[in-house]
Amino acid sequence: MTEFRIGRREVILAATAFAVTPAAKAYAEEEPPIHVVKGRGCECCEAWVDYLREQGFTVTDEVSMGTLLIRFKMDQGIPAKAFSCHTGTVDGYALEGHVPAADIRRLLDERPDAVGLAVPGMPFGSPGMGSADSRDAYDVLLVGRDGSLEVYTSYPAA
Ligand code: CU
Ligand code: CU
Repeated sequence: MTEFRIGRREVILAATAFAVTPAAKAYAEEEPPIHVVKGRGCECCEAWVDYLREQGFTVTDEVSMGTLLIRFKMDQGIPAKAFSCHTGTVDGYALEGHVPAADIRRLLDERPDAVGLAVPGMPFGSPGMGSADSRDAYDVLLVGRDGSLEVYTSYPAA
């Protein structure tokens, strides 16, 4: 009887280890895709899409414009003062403007209860907006569900 109990416990421990390992592996390999809604003829939107692909994200995109694009931003919960040229969505979050890949991965890792991230306007030297080697200082903002904005990451001028 004792022998049987030990044996059963070992089997359960082995089964648990087996169940955890493949799940963790799948999580690391399957990063959620980013969908980008961009302005018609917008070159920096295109440059941000290229940058995200270079950083290893799977990206799909579509062209929008004018009030349709603004409507899309509002529907995602982005306040007007945080608007930029394009709006991405990833795994339930919105990404407004030229958001760096490192912040997107931190967002997906930390999973805060929020709308997403925004880089308002188009700061020079943010990803897709010229060289990061000679950039202006800019902030990546965390957009709250109430439209609040708080600094998520500060990038100093370089
Ligand atoms: Cu832009
Ligand atoms: Cu853009």
